[in-house]
Amino acid sequence: MGADVLALVALGSVALFVVGLKRLSRIRTARSGNALMAAGMLLAVVLTLIEQGLVDYRWIAGGLAVGAAGGVAIVLRAKATAMPEIVARFNGFGGAASALVALSLFWRHVVESGDAVTASAALGATSAATLVLSVLIGATTFSGSIIAELKLRGVLKGQPTIPVRGGVMGLLVLGGLALGGVAVLGVEDPTLAAGLVVGVLAVSLLTGLVLVTPIGGADMPVVISLLNSLSGLAAAATGFALANNLLIIAGTIVGAAGLILTQIMCAAMNRSLVNVMVGGYGTDAPSGDAAEYESIVSADAEEAAMVLEAAQSVIIVPGYGLAAARAQNAAYDVAKALEARGATVRFAIHPVAGRMPGHMNVVLAEAEVPYDLLYEMDEINQDFSQTDAVIVVGANDVVNPAANTEPGSPIAGMPILEVGKARRVFVIKRSLAPGYAGIKNALFEADQTVMLFGDAKAVLDGLASELS
Ligand code: TAP
Repeated sequence: MGADVLALVALGSVALFVVGLKRLSRIRTARSGNALMAAGMLLAVVLTLIEQGLVDYRWIAGGLAVGAAGGVAIVLRAKATAMPEIVARFNGFGGAASALVALSLFWRHVVESGDAVTASAALGATSAATLVLSVLIGATTFSGSIIAELKLRGVLKGQPTIPVRGGVMGLLVLGGLALGGVAVLGVEDPTLAAGLVVGVLAVSLLTGLVLVTPIGGADMPVVISLLNSLSGLAAAATGFALANNLLIIAGTIVGAAGLILTQIMCAAMNRSLVNVMVGGYGTDAPSGDAAEYESIVSADAEEAAMVLEAAQSVIIVPGYGLAAARAQNAAYDVAKALEARGATVRFAIHPVAGRMPGHMNVVLAEAEVPYDLLYEMDEINQDFSQTDAVIVVGANDVVNPAANTEPGSPIAGMPILEVGKARRVFVIKRSLAPGYAGIKNALFEADQTVMLFGDAKAVLDGLASELS
């Protein structure tokens, strides 16, 4: 294939990434956006193999089959609630792949060549420097992501404090850069250079551990988004080392998208990235024990159904508990039963409901809830005051009025769904236990609130059968 054709195909692949990313920003177009980006990646992989001279279609087909089978096996076994863990693992693999490609490049051109020249002379200054950066960022991403996945799975618990962590981090990063600088510019002995690069690898793996270990499991989605950004930067650095434009562009897109998402998540929680990365969030004694509530009114599904039967307008607010209970089908059944009785039913989606961006959209899409029933917070907040009934399903922080009324609260300033303005609020959860932020929720004892205690799926199933 001529160089012009290859360049055009590369441009087509980049266009697929950009258009796909744009389509991911809307619920209706997200599926096709994902497919376009996957097609762009397929094109990029095949193109790179052809460019590298590995044109035998059997290798390409074999590699694609093994990779696709692995991906399908992982995703099919995954629950929607385990998506953050999977993203963490994939980020880690991305970082590891970048670091391994950079290491193999170093070995081939510097260590195995046996020439007594610096790596900078053997590879060119840009390639040599970006190669070290790729090992540094890629290995940090890998070890950080593994810790993040283990924390999300609950295998690693707690948030051990590391004394003078900021200083330790600074020393590790500077140490890695110094070792890399000497490996690239300062030594002509290939064996010594190899030892130094292995040193960069070891220091970087340690950096990932120190970075993520003290951060609480609940903050892992933000950390994962940041690690996602780092994995993109590692890929872009490898792209510079390989002089591969496609990898530079794809890596930069991932790096920028990850950083923007990190920023959006922090803003929606009204916290700074520094506050998240310092760690320790949620380690204070949680408040919100049952003993702190004074006037709780609870009912069963039959009593709630009697009130809901008369409602003309209903808004369902899903939260983390809906995903944990896998209650999305039951929630849609309740919506259909209410619609059959003539009510208007909508779902209100808070930007950080659940544990990952778009969590509620993914979970509700699984139950095939039509997109036009889903409303974002800004679209629906003004409608609560004219709503007959709200059903809060396993949500807590995203409907907690403390965000507006208690300046000292960990969620102070976080925009919330203002469900308290509705005529009647039903809250489905198993107990009075707090949510992610670990704080009391005054909504539970408000005059118009009725608690429906129980597992979200069981309560919603009960409601659906009472209503129909
Ligand atoms: P949370 O405030 O975490 O509350 C979830 C509630 O679900 C809990 O109070 C729990 O109460 C209930 N629950 C758990 N399992 C249940 C089950 N099987 N059946 C019924 N209820 C169940 O959830 P939220 O309102 O969705 O808020 C999300 C929180 O996560 C926010 O603080 C947000 O900042 C944070 N966060 C979100 C993200 C993203 S991007 N979404 C990322 C990081 C952090 P019981 O134990 O009493 O049942």
